[in-house]
Amino acid sequence: MLIFFGPPGAGKGTQARAVSTELGIPHISTGDILRESARKETGLGLAAKARMDKGDLVSDDVMCRIVGERLSEPDCRNGAILDGFPRTLGQAHFLDQLLEQRESERALLLNLQLEQTQVIKRLAGRRVCSKCGEIYNVYLNPPRQDEICDKDGSQLFQRPDDNEEAIRQRLLAYERETVPLIDYYRSKNALHDINGNGEPEAITERLLNFLKRT
Ligand code: AP5
Repeated sequence: MLIFFGPPGAGKGTQARAVSTELGIPHISTGDILRESARKETGLGLAAKARMDKGDLVSDDVMCRIVGERLSEPDCRNGAILDGFPRTLGQAHFLDQLLEQRESERALLLNLQLEQTQVIKRLAGRRVCSKCGEIYNVYLNPPRQDEICDKDGSQLFQRPDDNEEAIRQRLLAYERETVPLIDYYRSKNALHDINGNGEPEAITERLLNFLKRT
């Protein structure tokens, strides 16, 4: 089980999409699952949206239930890429228990490292395709035509939590709740740091080269 880890905007989603295609294993983004529930206006989605838009974390109970259900689906039998989960020690313990029941599977955390100034630039410029979820950046990785997806011609949108106040809150939540996982996985010898600077394709290559060696 691969865990793509790092601060908001480190490139977890961008890289998870690329590596998932290369390795043929599913990409599970908890943020995308919550945003899809919010779009469908389910009870869970609406409750989560209020927290997400402010940059606060959704409760462990809800997140563990979502991930537990998703990982029990047949396409995850040979592993998956988790993007945005676990994010608290409670979620990491839940995942440990779940993997213990799935023989011969261990978690490997790939920690994308990026300076905060870069993180803020990436988040402020992010645009996402409303149909296929392709991720762009108006400063760093713009679409060929303004606000239009290169892949399917759909409209791009800016995430409601990519504003200054929510970004500040997300970075605080990351420092407070999520950074402790670095020591947790390091102590289990299950952490590998990846330089998150450079062109997206170069980072994908870094990740794939590392995975080939392990
Ligand atoms: P989530 O959707 O997981 O957001 P996040 O962790 O804040 O991460 P991001 O999606 O913002 O960044 P990313 O690292 O994926 O970067 P990306 O590839 O898009 O979670 C959102 C919310 O949901 C949370 O705040 C919380 O409320 C809730 N939630 C989700 N999971 C939860 C959980 N487990 N527990 C509790 N609550 C949970 O890239 C960012 C930008 O940079 C893009 O514009 C991209 O084009 C650009 N970019 C990427 N790589 C490069 C590069 N190499 N060079 C130049 N630009 C690049």
